[in-house]
Formats: sequence, C-alpha cells, structure tokens
Amino acid sequence: MKQKKKLNVAMIGYGFMGKTHSDAFTLAPKMFDTDYIPVLHTLSARNREKAEAFAERWGYHAVETDWRKVVASPEIDVVDICVPNNMHAEIAIAAAEAGKMVLTEKPLAMNVAEGERMVAAVKKAGVPNMTWYNYRRIPAVTLAKQIIDSGKLGKIFHLRAQFLQDWTISSDLPQGGPGTWRLDVGAAGSGVTGDLLAHCIDTAMWWNGPITKVCARTETFIKERTHVESGKTQPVGIDDACVFLCDFENGSLGNFESTRYARGHKAKYFIEINGEHASIAWDLHDLHRLAYFDHADESIVRGWRSIHVTDGDQPYMGNWWVPGLSVGYETSFTHQVVDFLQSLTSGKVVGPTFEDALQTQRVCEAVLASGRDRAWKDTNAKAMI
Ligand SMILES: NC(=O)c1ccc[n+]([C@@H]2O[C@H](COP(=O)([O-])OP(=O)(O)OC[C@H]3O[C@@H](n4cnc5c(N)ncnc54)[C@H](O)[C@@H]3O)[C@@H](O)[C@H]2O)c1
Repeated sequence: MKQKKKLNVAMIGYGFMGKTHSDAFTLAPKMFDTDYIPVLHTLSARNREKAEAFAERWGYHAVETDWRKVVASPEIDVVDICVPNNMHAEIAIAAAEAGKMVLTEKPLAMNVAEGERMVAAVKKAGVPNMTWYNYRRIPAVTLAKQIIDSGKLGKIFHLRAQFLQDWTISSDLPQGGPGTWRLDVGAAGSGVTGDLLAHCIDTAMWWNGPITKVCARTETFIKERTHVESGKTQPVGIDDACVFLCDFENGSLGNFESTRYARGHKAKYFIEINGEHASIAWDLHDLHRLAYFDHADESIVRGWRSIHVTDGDQPYMGNWWVPGLSVGYETSFTHQVVDFLQSLTSGKVVGPTFEDALQTQRVCEAVLASGRDRAWKDTNAKAMI
C-alpha cells in the first residue's frame, strides 16, 4: 500500500465555514487520490464547551481556546482561518511566521493594506497559501472557465453578476456578535461588497481577467442598529447594497449588483458572460447546471442549452457517483482541498492564493471608494491564476 503523508490541520472557528471545511478535509482524500491526508487535529475557539462539542462531533483530537498556542504548536502543519474578517490578518501572519501552511476564508482581509501584509508574510515564509473563494470549484463554474479558456466564446463583450439576499431587512436585527458580526463594520470591514460581491469579483476575474476601473453606488438603508456588545444604538458602517459598473482589461464591460434587501432572494448568485460566438450563464440555485448558448448551432435548433454537469469527463465529476447524479454546494470546498493537496505533491501552485485574493480586495476597496466619492476609480488589480 502506498504510504500517505499526514497533514495536521488546526481549524480556527467552528461556525458555518468551520463545518464546511471540516467536511471537506474529511471527504477530500476519500473521494480523490491525494498523497496527503488531512488530519482534523486541533479545533480552536473561544468557548471551550462549544468547541469541545464541535470537536467531538467532527473527530478533532484536541481543543485549544488560544489560537496563538495553536499557531505556535510544532504538531500543526496547516492553519485554517474560519473566523470573522477582522481576525484573518493577525492569525494568518502569525501562522506564516511560524512556518505553517495558511488557508483563510474570504475576503482575504479588512482592506488592501492588511492584505498586502498577509501576502508579504506568506511570501517571506515561503509557505503554501490559499483563500477560500470556493465557487470556482463548483463543477459547472470550473467547466465554464475551461470553455472560456478554449476560446469558444470568442471576443468577450459583457460580464454581469448578481448576489442577492434578503436577511437584513428588519431594523430590529442587531449588529455585532454571533450571527450578526457581518453587520458590524469593525468585524466585517464592509457589507455586501466584501461578503458577497467579492465572490462574484473572484469568479469574474478568474474567467475574464482583471477589472481595471469601477464606478459604484453603495447604500446603507438602515442607518443605526443596536450593537450586541455595547447594547447601544450605533451607526451602521457597512454597505447594505452595492451596484457597480466596470471595465475589464480585455475591453469588455461588467455590471455587478449585490444587496441583502432583495425580498425573496436567499442566495441568488447569478453570473453570465457574453462573447461574439457564445454565452455562458450560471446560477447558484441550480448549481449543477450550466447554461450555454452557441451561435454556431444550426438555426432551427439554436437556443440556450442547460448542461447537466454530472458526467465523468466534466470537472471533478469522475470521482463522484455516476452520470446523472449531482453533487452539492459543500463539494466546492472538497474540491478546493483536493486541488490544494495535489499542489503540494506537484509543486504547481493553484489559486486563489493570497496574492490572487489581494486582487479581489483591490477591486472591493476601489468599489467602496467609488461609492463614497461618487467617482470612477482605478483598481490596480493584476491577473490571477
Ligand atoms: N467561502 C464562502 O462561501 C463563505 C461563506 C460564509 C462565510 N465565509 C467567511 O468565513 C469566515 C467565517 O464566517 P462564518 O459564516 O463561518 O461565520 P460564523 O459566524 O458562522 O462563525 C464564526 C466563528 O468565528 C468565531 N468568532 C471568533 N471571534 C468572533 C467574533 N468577534 N464575533 C463572532 N464570531 C467570532 C465564532 O465563535 C465562530 O466559531 C468569514 O471570513 C466569512 O466572510 C465564507
């Protein structure tokens, strides 16, 4: 039997993402061939009782309430950061300095300056790193990237994306604390721009190259909310909604929209790209399907195809069930772990690295500045892998 190498993982945080990542580390080496086997080693969180319950459920060997001890531990190989955005930089930089591989949830950081320090830290330490822009690894989204790269679309004219939710419409909802830290600018850095549009921007630039200029309109519909920690009514500093226009380096035009005030939409992530020969569209609510229109089709049968992405020759699907059976949201994280582990063997770096996530951060920061100043802004974003 081939000897596999163990990789001890420390998970920081046990919320929504702590769960998806624990699932991904568990399933990746079972469904795919990897030389490395992640071991759920230590779960780190502030509340010991809750952390112990999570650790027991998922099979972590140890619990530690102080993330600094985890990062310093010689037993840990990989530090995975699943806590609110204001904690990403400090933990990631400490982990890199301790020589650990570092994975962090998105957005990379609170702002570009923080993101640059994180990139510098992983580069200086020479440690493998990744940011969890997981939507790239939904098989239909990966297939779209392959079709675009093959040139089938021809010259690209347009890219449009939306990420719509409706969960913050009530003015009774507080800001800060468990579940509502996303409404607190001090914990989240921004609202829908960093939380939701960042996903669209990552996919868009991965598919279509750098966004160079943006013109945004941001809005905060509910101006004050009670803060969970202070108990006081405080101004809301996040953007509740954001729409922006943009230029891509390749000459195509983009328009993006995100809000948490679109009644009826829970997680409506839609992205479409139009080229001279063909178009592609994808919708998270129907994630295993890819819509494809090819103008070269015979005119009497020409129309949008709905490709059921479940065949063995489509991305990642050969390792799952049989053609016709779909996989879900959680497998985007599994696939990210697989690609990360395989990159350790091949030595070929896979994105989104911290450096890639910094490009998305640059666009987010330019969008927020544009919304504030009501003016076009340069992004200084570079190409990503
Ligand atoms: N890739 C994705 O699709 C995706 C989806 C959701 C969240 N995220 C990102 O993952 C990270 C964690 O988000 P989540 O949805 O898992 O959050 P969550 O609220 O479900 O969990 C947050 C975790 O951080 C801990 N924590 C530490 N300090 C905290 C504080 N001051 N306030 C609140 N919680 C604190 C909590 O105890 C909990 O374990 C964020 O950076 C978020 O942007 C990414």
